[in-house]
Amino acid sequence: MKVLVLGGDGYLGWPAALHLSEHGHEVAVLDNGARRGYDDELGVTSLVPIRGLDERVAAWEEVSGTRLPVYHGDLLDAEFTRDTLAEFRPDAVVHFAEQRSAPYSMLDRAHATYTQHNNVVGTLNLLYAIAETDPGTHLVKLGTLGEYGTPNIDIEEGWLTVEHNGRTDRVLFPKRPGSFYHLSKVHDSHNIEFTCRAWGLRATDLNQGVVYGHHTDQTARDPRLATRFDYDAVFGTVLNRFTIQAVLGEPLTVYGSGGQTRGVIDIRDTVECVRLAVENPAERGEFRVFNQLTESFSVGELAKLVADTHPGGTEVAHLDNPRVEADRHHYRVASTGLPALGLRPHLLADTLITSLFDLVERHADRVDRSALLPGVQWRLPGR
Ligand SMILES: NC(=O)c1ccc[n+]([C@@H]2O[C@H](COP(=O)([O-])OP(=O)(O)OC[C@H]3O[C@@H](n4cnc5c(N)ncnc54)[C@H](O)[C@@H]3O)[C@@H](O)[C@H]2O)c1
Repeated sequence: MKVLVLGGDGYLGWPAALHLSEHGHEVAVLDNGARRGYDDELGVTSLVPIRGLDERVAAWEEVSGTRLPVYHGDLLDAEFTRDTLAEFRPDAVVHFAEQRSAPYSMLDRAHATYTQHNNVVGTLNLLYAIAETDPGTHLVKLGTLGEYGTPNIDIEEGWLTVEHNGRTDRVLFPKRPGSFYHLSKVHDSHNIEFTCRAWGLRATDLNQGVVYGHHTDQTARDPRLATRFDYDAVFGTVLNRFTIQAVLGEPLTVYGSGGQTRGVIDIRDTVECVRLAVENPAERGEFRVFNQLTESFSVGELAKLVADTHPGGTEVAHLDNPRVEADRHHYRVASTGLPALGLRPHLLADTLITSLFDLVERHADRVDRSALLPGVQWRLPGR
């Protein structure tokens, strides 16, 4: 299949592009470089050095003998987005190209409006581009489990059958997310569902858990193919951040009691889920939702796991929670769609933590310790 990967320079988009390419698909990537710009703005950088996009692509060509065309540009540029689809004519578009940090979106008004504008308008431009070039193109969109929040009922796979006053309907699962970033993903989901219903587009929304890990089979082949690995309090996902803190001998920073439970997934399973979704497209007019997680842990459990595994002994520090979120709550998430397509997950207990420790040790001199502490408050000043 011809697959266009949007956000193909990012933590997940780059390894997903290589995974699809290795599996015989004709892949092109698109990116506007925004993620590297956030690094400059925040004064941090990926723990693992990463090459420029063109250099990475050249390295992949050298290693695999496969070409990976690059489109440098912004989804906010509607003409560029449409022209790219018109030129490449993809069977599937995998959409990773969004601002994806909750703390970044909560920094202040400018970052909240940037996040929602970038994500919601970029996705709308994409929906129009698909409708105008080939409405049969399958959109595989990265959503997040955070869209659901932590309701006191089980989380279903996107849809919920509701009985009310003697009548029944199938509705989108009610969402109660916890940041302006997560809200942007909810708005996307609604816009995408509407275009499936109104225009007959076909889409798969992958409501993904928090991703951990670094290597995939493809990125491990050459250091020039490495993907980014973020550790700072704004962009670092929780398990990646804990492994860095453990190696540096810093306390693992758990916000509040650590009872917050989240779905998680290994980066190798992320890229495989994307492949499965691409190769098994939604029907025309279908808005299909998969909950893309393999396990759930509380933040406290993750901290304990890292502390118990790290040979040096590690402390856990409970900080006042800068976020507004439930500390203890019900959390059970249905996830049957991707296993039914053949997903065989890597489980945290069998994996990696030691290999992540090695990775961090190799690059420990690149860490800016001050970037590990949370600086972004969810509450308004003075409240
Ligand atoms: N990393 C996670 O743990 C996680 C968990 C759940 C969902 N997701 C979702 O997966 C997607 C990718 O996440 P990631 O961790 O790889 O993020 P990332 O920031 O590393 O990658 C996103 C890429 O998209 C590009 N981009 C952003 N806005 C763009 C625009 N307007 N036009 C073109 N390119 C643009 C950025 O430059 C970046 O390279 C996001 O949509 C995110 O919401 C990620």
